[in-house]
Amino acid sequence: MSTVAITGANSGIGLRAARQLMDAGHRVLALCRSVDRARAALGPAVDVIETHMDDLASIERAAAQVADAGVDVLINNAATFDLGMKQRQTTAAGDEYVWATNHLGAAALAAKLGPALAASDDGRLIFIASKGLVAMPRIRIRWDDVDATTWYTPTKAYYHAKLAQVMLAESLAQQWSPRVHVTALRVPAVRLDAEKLAAQPRLQRWLYAPKNRAAAEPDAVAQTYVALATGAAPASAYVDESGAPCALPRFARDEEQRRRLLEVTEAATGASFDLD
Ligand SMILES: NC(=O)c1ccc[n+]([C@@H]2O[C@H](COP(=O)([O-])OP(=O)(O)OC[C@H]3O[C@@H](n4cnc5c(N)ncnc54)[C@H](OP(=O)(O)O)[C@@H]3O)[C@@H](O)[C@H]2O)c1
Repeated sequence: MSTVAITGANSGIGLRAARQLMDAGHRVLALCRSVDRARAALGPAVDVIETHMDDLASIERAAAQVADAGVDVLINNAATFDLGMKQRQTTAAGDEYVWATNHLGAAALAAKLGPALAASDDGRLIFIASKGLVAMPRIRIRWDDVDATTWYTPTKAYYHAKLAQVMLAESLAQQWSPRVHVTALRVPAVRLDAEKLAAQPRLQRWLYAPKNRAAAEPDAVAQTYVALATGAAPASAYVDESGAPCALPRFARDEEQRRRLLEVTEAATGASFDLD
């Protein structure tokens, strides 16, 4: 049985994955920003570690607790995608909020937990990407302005950060192999929980409704999380919802761009991707 740390385990796919893992007898460390909401969703006995993915100090504290508990798998599931966030926002550290939460936070947590994962007999790290990238063949990392001061929309910021997650996974899959097995999962459109949908602006709710009806069930995609976390290790560092290898976004195939992302991410987070 494995110990699996999963961020954003209180709702959506993360919640279903946490429940499935617990039902299968694995230990789950639920890294959530609201301890109360995590306990309400997963039950009072769950191990919850308060973690704010937009706050590097919070991530450092959480990583220390996870490492103390012992961990085999980290699933970097939490992400923000709020179409109502029309204006660019920044964290206390001054980073653009979506970049900070969906890329820098996930990257910092991975870096901090890398040595603990490497100490496991079967250490695994899973990043969550989005199938929406397939429709954006020209997407690239905006090196001149990663914090989106000149180009922000919630959608652009979201996919920019997801591209970075794919690139980071590809780099770490090479750098950390064979000590830690690293994968990025390309998630298709998945039905949002009712309360998440209700939190969107009225127009967005209306626009999103048909897509939400046609979307995959979170429980089905959660099964792939569980398979990647605890089943046979996949042969590819980038897989689709059925666990099959899929093609990297064009920009992510460029090794030089990936190396640059590692440097930019280490500089922004102060975290190192060295395992030793
Ligand atoms: N749903 C889709 O169609 C779809 C498609 C492609 C990829 N994905 C990806 O799949 C993953 C799960 O998405 P989902 O659909 O399950 O969404 P969700 O229900 O909105 O879950 C997102 C989770 O992330 C947490 N989170 C957001 N910002 C945070 C922050 N600053 N600090 C800590 N936690 C934070 C949320 O916590 P709170 O509950 O406290 O807000 C929530 O637990 C995400 O990486 C998403 O980008 C989803």
